[in-house]
Amino acid sequence: MSRVAYVNGQYHPHGQAMVHVEDRGFQFADGVYEVWSIFDGRMADFDGHMTRLHRSLNELRIDIPMSREALTRVLHETIRRNRVRNGIVYLQVTRGTARRDHPFPAEGTPPSVIVTSRSISASEAEAQAKKGVAILTQPDIRWGRCDIKTVGLLANVLAKQAAREAGAYEAWMVDEMGLVTEGSSTNAWIVDEHGKLRTRDTQANILKGITRTALMALIQQEKLELDERPFSVDEAKRAREAFFTAAGAFVMPAVSIDGTTIGDGTPGPIATRLRTLYLEQARRDAI
Ligand code: PDD
Repeated sequence: MSRVAYVNGQYHPHGQAMVHVEDRGFQFADGVYEVWSIFDGRMADFDGHMTRLHRSLNELRIDIPMSREALTRVLHETIRRNRVRNGIVYLQVTRGTARRDHPFPAEGTPPSVIVTSRSISASEAEAQAKKGVAILTQPDIRWGRCDIKTVGLLANVLAKQAAREAGAYEAWMVDEMGLVTEGSSTNAWIVDEHGKLRTRDTQANILKGITRTALMALIQQEKLELDERPFSVDEAKRAREAFFTAAGAFVMPAVSIDGTTIGDGTPGPIATRLRTLYLEQARRDAI
């Protein structure tokens, strides 16, 4: 099955889908993105991601490229043309194409819009979640606006690569106080040594994850105690459980941090339960 990508109004074979050499996304990382999980061809947490996309565009003063309805149609059509049942759809909007010059281009320069979609093996992801994954900590060297979902991801890429080279799946980034900020492409959580769920508050320089927000509602529903407060690497290593959340990863249990075993070295009961609950809800509410 050949893949298809949407670029600025047209669907192209994936291998021939191109943006201009002077696209500002390419030259300045001057753009934003969103990722939705797909269940049975439908997008999970749809509104949350769409609302955050508009916020990111607003914060960077990039024009809204098309109506919400039109964009929704393009997302659905890209999923359909790629025949994705389970996987992700990726949307990127940049400040468009213009002669390379740092200030914003002339008013009216149309933003660039690209959409791609690919399948993810649900059984492989489940096997990984059953086993749990390893985490490596890395210094957080990112800029000060990590609340905006920009395509400027070099620090995240370097952190993730360091993790992979160390045989870990995800990198947790750590600020100068020794407190975990978030994962390189996920939000970080623990069940601390007292049994309390902890995740960093979004006053900090982190992305307000849509999966994180959805999980918070489930945590409340389950009457679990949540402390939205930063935790240190040491606290994480002493925690009963550790896990992380993101579109595509859902709720992923971690079983070691920098080689230190978490709990008994298997996915914890709370993370496992929250994963099940999240998947049920996401699948049910997908559109
Ligand atoms: N990443 N933190 C960072 C730095 C992220 O890049 C992401 C998502 C998250 C989780 O956000 P959400 O729950 O809304 O997916 C947190 C996406 C999946 C990516 O870059 O591929």
